[in-house]
Amino acid sequence: MGIRSRVNRGLMIAPGARWWEVALESLIKQSMRFPSLNIRCFRVIQKLYWYSYTWMDTCWFSVPLAKNPMDLWIYQEIIWETRPQVLIETGSYKGGSALYFAHLFDLIGEGRVVTIDIQDIASSKLSHPRITTIVGSSISDNVASQVRQIVGNKTAMVSLDSEHSKQHVIKEMELYSKFVSVGNYLVVEDTCLRGPGPANAVEEFLHRRKDFIQDTRREKYMMTSNSGGFLKKIS
Ligand SMILES: C[S@@+](CC[C@H](N)C(=O)[O-])C[C@H]1O[C@@H](n2cnc3c(N)ncnc32)[C@H](O)[C@@H]1O
Repeated sequence: MGIRSRVNRGLMIAPGARWWEVALESLIKQSMRFPSLNIRCFRVIQKLYWYSYTWMDTCWFSVPLAKNPMDLWIYQEIIWETRPQVLIETGSYKGGSALYFAHLFDLIGEGRVVTIDIQDIASSKLSHPRITTIVGSSISDNVASQVRQIVGNKTAMVSLDSEHSKQHVIKEMELYSKFVSVGNYLVVEDTCLRGPGPANAVEEFLHRRKDFIQDTRREKYMMTSNSGGFLKKIS
């Protein structure tokens, strides 16, 4: 059934739908009747998306990745606009996000991905010429010096998606912000998590650092796991 007829008929729920599908349909109905509810509805939809664990059931070319597809689209826009020569990712997991970035670089015709994880899960699955995997803790001196060697004088952006404790993220932000070129981005993933974590790390970092700003235009789809986490280097 097309979207127009679904709207006209008042969004029908399929028999046997799960609770969150029913809740979603009802939210969408409400947001159509009261546009001012849109933003609040998006927040609720985000929560439903999170607790449905769909983000654990997402793949890029059959390699699992743990990202909201709306955020992947935003990465695509950032990468096309800013053309970093290197993208550094902490937290490879199974390698789907690194492969996604590498495929974007394939389309652009330039760019390397450096992906870091304490577990060696991704390297056996990834054999893409643009990807370098580093096994070790993202905050260790050894890993940082390997990254420094690869980046050299190249322009770079960073995606921080490893351990999400506040202290770890702050250390990563201090270490990896050095690699980000002016005009490019330091993306702190999963600021949506509750408790002391990435969101608090961002707050503390920005309190001290005036060379980065929160680019909230990157949250235009509203469904993001990284609210306040798209940091642009301005000086
Ligand atoms: C959320 S997953 C990464 C998801 C991946 N970026 C994606 O989008 O598919 C987090 C990963 O961080 C790794 N990790 C945890 N602590 C780490 C550390 N200190 N250094 C590097 N990686 C770490 C875990 O092993 C796990 O694979």
